[in-house]
Amino acid sequence: MSPRSSTEVRPLGVALLGSTGSIGRQTVEVLEAHADRFQVRALATGRNAAELEAQARRLRPAAVSLADEGTQLDLPAGTERWRGGEALERMAVLDDVDIVVVGTGGVVSLRPVLAALRAGKVVASANKETLVSGGHLVMAEARARAGERAAVDPHDPLATPLAWLRPIDSEHSAIWQCLVGERRSAVARLILTASGGPFRDESAEEIAAATPERALRHPNWSMGAKITIDSATLANKGLEVIEARWLYDVAYDAIDVVVHPQSVVHSAVLFIDGSLKAQLGTPDMRLPIQYALTYPERLPSSAASLDLVAAARLDFRAPDEARFPALRIAREAGRTGSRASAALIAADEVAVARFLDGTLDFNGIPRLLEAAVRRFGEGDDQAPDIAALVALDGEVRAAFAAGPVEAA
Ligand SMILES: NC(=O)c1ccc[n+]([C@@H]2O[C@H](COP(=O)([O-])OP(=O)(O)OC[C@H]3O[C@@H](n4cnc5c(N)ncnc54)[C@H](OP(=O)(O)O)[C@@H]3O)[C@@H](O)[C@H]2O)c1
Repeated sequence: MSPRSSTEVRPLGVALLGSTGSIGRQTVEVLEAHADRFQVRALATGRNAAELEAQARRLRPAAVSLADEGTQLDLPAGTERWRGGEALERMAVLDDVDIVVVGTGGVVSLRPVLAALRAGKVVASANKETLVSGGHLVMAEARARAGERAAVDPHDPLATPLAWLRPIDSEHSAIWQCLVGERRSAVARLILTASGGPFRDESAEEIAAATPERALRHPNWSMGAKITIDSATLANKGLEVIEARWLYDVAYDAIDVVVHPQSVVHSAVLFIDGSLKAQLGTPDMRLPIQYALTYPERLPSSAASLDLVAAARLDFRAPDEARFPALRIAREAGRTGSRASAALIAADEVAVARFLDGTLDFNGIPRLLEAAVRRFGEGDDQAPDIAALVALDGEVRAAFAAGPVEAA
């Protein structure tokens, strides 16, 4: 029940879920750059067998899992293939795993995250569902682990929930970095910055005619397709508002979104004395990934550091919820409760996939989100258990997988 600090001699054991994706590959880069500190024990992916094999040859994990179980794997000696629906959970609680890094999309990692936290492993997560659907479950575990540490030593760096459930998203990492050393009671507002996506300066008519090709051209960040489309609709920022509510235990009314086209200020915290702290950097996910792995330490990074003179100017403006209604829909779902936000994020996965395969127009994405939240999000059980969340995810996907989507 006690992960060691990253200053100890034995490298920290890492299980990496989603190792072949955008976050996964960048995590591998960071782990390889600090091979003296970290030892990869387990890797899990969906379908990309060739990349998983290449990673296994370089990193020599004890176990790997490929969700596509029909595909054969050519693995090095000493690496076993684990099969079955429980493989990720088993990896997350391995004795010699200290940190579980989550780079999968979807609800597939919810059970492993909960199992890891219960087993006293640190979780570093980029995955949205972990908090948007399961925030009420995972934060309870993170608080419990932090409380156990605080009872022994209140100054232990692991005596805070954020040290157990470490955000990788650049915005949430920025807020976390601003909060280190601060009292919770001193926080007035959280300010999440948004690039505004590729359509931030386009008219409502131009946005309505957006094609997948145009929506996939993010101005600042290079990311997976799903999150790039989410940035274009601002659904991503809405999901981040919900994540922030859980991570930092603040009311929705105290979380602002500000459009900042340069993506240099990754987010900020306003304190009660009027002081505003922000974290700035180049748009490179290796920075927040590394911080989540090495907290409370900082190590050198191969990511370029920020040159303020070259950045020259920083612009900020309020988001336009008329052109980008997904932000409002997400906030409302968050306020309704975890059932509504779980319906929202499941619906978003369907909506983005349909937009990309051409069966839904761009404005169909927020239409589908609103319809799903109305149909599945209401109800008394706004703190569903994990089985209910997984069932809800399946229901929403089935309901909106095909057919026209009318305005809610
Ligand atoms: N990309 C970013 O910069 C960024 C920034 C902030 C937050 N996030 C969040 O981080 C998460 C991952 O994003 P991403 O852009 O890295 O996505 P991505 O490129 O689509 O990668 C997803 C990863 O999950 C794996 N996977 C899919 N199904 C799986 C299963 N059943 N079991 C195990 N692994 C499975 C995929 O494997 P295969 O490729 O082998 O199919 C892939 O390795 C999302 O929640 C996203 O919103 C991403």
